[in-house]
Amino acid sequence: MKIDLAFTPFELDKKDLQEKTVVVIDTLRATSTMIVAFENGCSAFIPVSTIEEARRLAEEKKRPDLLLGGERGAMPVEGFHLGNSPRNYLPQKVRGKTVVMTTTNGTRALVSARRAAEVFIGAFLNLSALGQRLKETKRDILIACSGEKGLFCLEDTVCGGAIVDYLEKSGLPLLRSDSAMSAKILYEYFEGDIYGMLVASEWGQYLESIGLGKDVRICAQIDSSRLVPVYREGKIFLDR
Ligand code: MLT
Repeated sequence: MKIDLAFTPFELDKKDLQEKTVVVIDTLRATSTMIVAFENGCSAFIPVSTIEEARRLAEEKKRPDLLLGGERGAMPVEGFHLGNSPRNYLPQKVRGKTVVMTTTNGTRALVSARRAAEVFIGAFLNLSALGQRLKETKRDILIACSGEKGLFCLEDTVCGGAIVDYLEKSGLPLLRSDSAMSAKILYEYFEGDIYGMLVASEWGQYLESIGLGKDVRICAQIDSSRLVPVYREGKIFLDR
């Protein structure tokens, strides 16, 4: 089985995804926030690229169980019910709800990944559960890092490397691409202090600087969840 990694959505757009299992990672914070939301009883997410699209969809559907969530520049969008902080997605707000979500990088990568045969949502929070689920797939795997405005970011790459490491240690015979191997080497470098790596990353520093350091701490909670959301037919949900 082959395992490949796209450092940026730009690279993802160049890949043939048809027969692949893709894992989308936006560890600070979109995919971590989604996992927390599912832990708190959220029913589904509908990822969209733009604020306008999110508003239009909510307007068209006019469903009482539909909420608008997301960010720009890490700040909540005006008029939206929820931002992109895992601390917003409390059980009393999200239980039984579907969130139409737009974020700068995470939902963009998700929308690009929808051409794949199957898509999973990954973060440090669900690392082992995700690894176990990936072991069941018969397809080649592509890890899609959301990056930062189309460019490389450290935290998604290290998380991708952690997935490669998990699968290798589980004895799965893997044919690694150069990018997958590089991500694993980066993970080995930071493995002992994932929180430190997140805080040191550019986006982690930015979140700290605007008072969102608590979110960074939440996103560093390795294996706090056993949930592996799937993205299928335009929706992210739990299929088991
Ligand atoms: C994104 O999708 O760019 C992020 O999740 C940004 C953030 O931390 O809100």
